[in-house]
Amino acid sequence: MDQASGLKRIFASMIHGPAAEAAPGHQASGLLGAATTAPAPRRHCRAIAVAGGKGGVGKSTVAVNLGMALSIAGHEVMLLDADMGLANIDVLLGLTPSRHIGHLLDGECTLEELLLPAPHGLQIIPAGSGARRLAQLDNGEHAAIIRAFDELARPPEYLLVDTAAGLSDNVTMFAAAADEVILVVCDEPASLTDAYGLTKVLSRDFGVRRIRMVANMVRNEGDARQLHHKLSRVSDRFLDVVIDFSGWVPHDERLRQAIKRQSAVVDLWPSSHSALAFKQMAGAVDTWTEPDRGGLDRIAFFGSRTTPADGVPR
Ligand SMILES: Nc1ncnc2c1ncn2[C@@H]1O[C@H](COP(=O)(O)OP(=O)(O)OP(=O)(O)O)[C@@H](O)[C@H]1O
Ligand SMILES: [Mg+2]
Repeated sequence: MDQASGLKRIFASMIHGPAAEAAPGHQASGLLGAATTAPAPRRHCRAIAVAGGKGGVGKSTVAVNLGMALSIAGHEVMLLDADMGLANIDVLLGLTPSRHIGHLLDGECTLEELLLPAPHGLQIIPAGSGARRLAQLDNGEHAAIIRAFDELARPPEYLLVDTAAGLSDNVTMFAAAADEVILVVCDEPASLTDAYGLTKVLSRDFGVRRIRMVANMVRNEGDARQLHHKLSRVSDRFLDVVIDFSGWVPHDERLRQAIKRQSAVVDLWPSSHSALAFKQMAGAVDTWTEPDRGGLDRIAFFGSRTTPADGVPR
């Protein structure tokens, strides 16, 4: 057992009792339940950052449609627009927020008061648009946003975080705080090199050990897997991180039309090729095992909280 997983087990036993020490995650509560009087099964509040390095590769598109596909599948999902200063999740969904993350940072509202309802029960946390201050948050402000999730009375099952292009702290802080990172890559040299650059920073400086790659705007699964092969071949050689192939989305004219109509394609055209890809991806996300992220001292969305199935945190 390495040092990080050893610490994780000790930490788990502090929270859930000795049974959790033997088996992490959901299994731990299952074992605990078998030994005592069957408590409500616990679920993890899982935060998934959607990143990509390069601009325009489809990060926001993936975040919106994957988030809504998870909602359609019956999960409670929040989507944080972390493209601070250039917010566009609200535009993608035709919503008009009256408040944004800046108001939270200024103490003018709570996180709950920011939640904006989107179709199928998806809840959006909007960023501000054109606000330079939000594009240049300091690390204390990043931490304040991330910690605000720990105070939610009713945390969601999934928090999706749409990040900006580039390698700024606005990207790395949110990606590092998430349990999983989806890396959106398309078939362009600059997308591959930028994706590699981001993977390098996240693995080297933030201890991220697994990245979930999604190929976007590709023709077929063969092309998607080839993109994955190109990226993982280099990262396997030079970086201490595993890049999993976690799905692909075809180039789809329907998706572009949905964007023009300010709707998610999974909502407007649920049988389109791209919508089916997002639904398949949502099914796969739901089977992901507990993440293995090094270091207990990192700032994380929801900290180490779990939520019982009845939604009332204990
Ligand atoms: N699967 C797809 N099929 C067709 N077009 C797509 C697809 N995915 C994305 N696009 C097109 O790419 C554009 C950019 O997508 P999106 O805004 O999601 O990228 P982004 O990575 O979030 O960009 P930014 O870095 O500016 O935030 C969309 O407006 C859409 O026209
Ligand atoms: Mg975007």
